[in-house]
Amino acid sequence: MLRKTAIAAVLAAALVPAAPLLAADENHVTDFSFSFEGPFGKYDQHQLQRGLQIYTEVCAACHGLRYVPLRTLADPGGPAISEDAMRAYAAEIDVYDPEEDDYRPGTPPDHFPTSNDENAPDLSMMAKARAGFSGPYGLGLNQLFKGIGGAEYIASILTGYTGEDKEEAGAILYENTAFPGGWIGMAPPLFDEQVDFADEHPNDLTSMAQDVSAFLMWTAEPKMMARKQAGFTGVLFLAILTVLLFLTNKRLWTPVKHRKDI
Ligand code: HEC
Repeated sequence: MLRKTAIAAVLAAALVPAAPLLAADENHVTDFSFSFEGPFGKYDQHQLQRGLQIYTEVCAACHGLRYVPLRTLADPGGPAISEDAMRAYAAEIDVYDPEEDDYRPGTPPDHFPTSNDENAPDLSMMAKARAGFSGPYGLGLNQLFKGIGGAEYIASILTGYTGEDKEEAGAILYENTAFPGGWIGMAPPLFDEQVDFADEHPNDLTSMAQDVSAFLMWTAEPKMMARKQAGFTGVLFLAILTVLLFLTNKRLWTPVKHRKDI
């Protein structure tokens, strides 16, 4: 009895603080559905390529991707553009070479440039840094089936502008329903039909916001597909091992259990 009461008390103490924390989270994040969610989810190569284009034409004006090597654009499992396209993309980028003390065209081992605007954070890891949505509460099952939520957050920021702005301490802030606090220092960066795709894929704000967010999920977790596959192989292996152990165990003990002399 005492033990049951103690368990109930511990459970209550553990659960109660979670509720006010959740309620305090006022920013609204839309649960966009991405191809890479779920245990078998995969990146959509074409979506990553569109995201790369949007990033390059729009976001790179201010933001950087300093942890992402340019060569990975040609890796399988990512945007997987051709080797030639990747080299051409790299050559378009001016890279500062400390040895020559000058700028030179980028090469595959170079990384994307750092942020141009000192207030604009680097976006390499943003999709993981803002992964609060769908977790961290609960058992983690939401993360398994719906993804960690960083991509949803970025897409919600891009689509969450209300059109209101205000000036505060000399800086202009824009009202955004997804940004914690409701006011963000980034002017609405993306608009309907701002980027044209070669395959004439829809280029309204909502689809482009999802494309660029998927791309930023890939920069934050480029090996997601390999990781999921390794996990699946591991679980399969353990399942087979369990069956084999069960059968071996049965077989080993059968003569003992059926002995007549005890
Ligand atoms: C004109 C410059 C500019 C452009 C273009 C721009 N941003 Fe930003 N961005 C900023 C600034 C400045 C901040 C910091 C805002 C703040 O902290 O209030 C920011 C912040 C962010 C954040 C972080 C929000 C957070 O939770 O801290 C994300 C995500 C982001 N931008 C994504 C993008 C994407 C995606 C694009 C391209 C579609 C883009 N930005 C284009 C200037 C820009």
